[in-house]
Amino acid sequence: MTAIPTIDLVDALATEYADKSPSEILELALSQEGEIAISFSGAEDVVLIDMAHNLGKPFRVFSLDTGRLHPETYQFIDTVRKHYGIKIEICFPESDAVQQLVNEKGLFSFYQDDHKECCGIRKVQPLRKKLATLDGWITGQRKDQSPGTRTAIPVIQADAGFSGEGKQLIKYNPLANWSSADVWNYIRMMEIPYNPLHEKGFISIGCEPCTRPVLPNQHEREGRWWWEEATHKECGLHAGNLQK
Ligand code: ADX
Ligand code: SF4
Repeated sequence: MTAIPTIDLVDALATEYADKSPSEILELALSQEGEIAISFSGAEDVVLIDMAHNLGKPFRVFSLDTGRLHPETYQFIDTVRKHYGIKIEICFPESDAVQQLVNEKGLFSFYQDDHKECCGIRKVQPLRKKLATLDGWITGQRKDQSPGTRTAIPVIQADAGFSGEGKQLIKYNPLANWSSADVWNYIRMMEIPYNPLHEKGFISIGCEPCTRPVLPNQHEREGRWWWEEATHKECGLHAGNLQK
């Protein structure tokens, strides 16, 4: 076990690990002291789960169930759970907050108001609650995943947005330098589970009302919150990516 890196050490580690393989970055993350977990929802995250499984180190996985996921995504989460024989810690939103939102504004307020309020209640608050119990988290973010918001993500960073008072939360992005093609080559080569929606033209998959398939050569991010400005498409899980 290595100690949780201090804020000064994080930048040095990010430089040292910038060109290392995802598995090496993941190994570093899983060797860190304290509680650390993989944040799981999509194709990239199963690659991380598969790598963690192959490293043979104990690892935790959590997933945010917004209540608005596709039926296929629920099936996929359970397929992954059974495939690896792991526990997936499912995080639900606060029922009172969801109830108040939908009773006041209906079930599709995000099409008029933008997605921030609903994502705040269904994703960001549950994530904040989960991260308060952790010392580090591992995401499947990639640099080429979102124009303008993810192009500079490092492989390791101090998570300013979710660190608590007196506690430094570390965020690992082992796939930061991988392309979508790298991810899918791995998935096919290792024959690991994927969301069946990918067979219907979906690339980046979030909640059902806010995700749609994309056309050939359309950027994957265009299938998310398509009614909003492309360079601001962050739901708040990775709000630190947004430049003011
Ligand atoms: S989002 O912020 O736009 O929704 P995206 O779908 O690109 O995120 O996924 C990037 C990473 O965020 C995933 O690889 C995963 O680590 C994390 N993530 C996204 N959605 C969830 C979720 N529902 N539960 C847990 N982690 C998630
Ligand atoms: Fe709500 Fe859409 Fe955000 Fe899901 S992606 S939490 S449905 S606004």
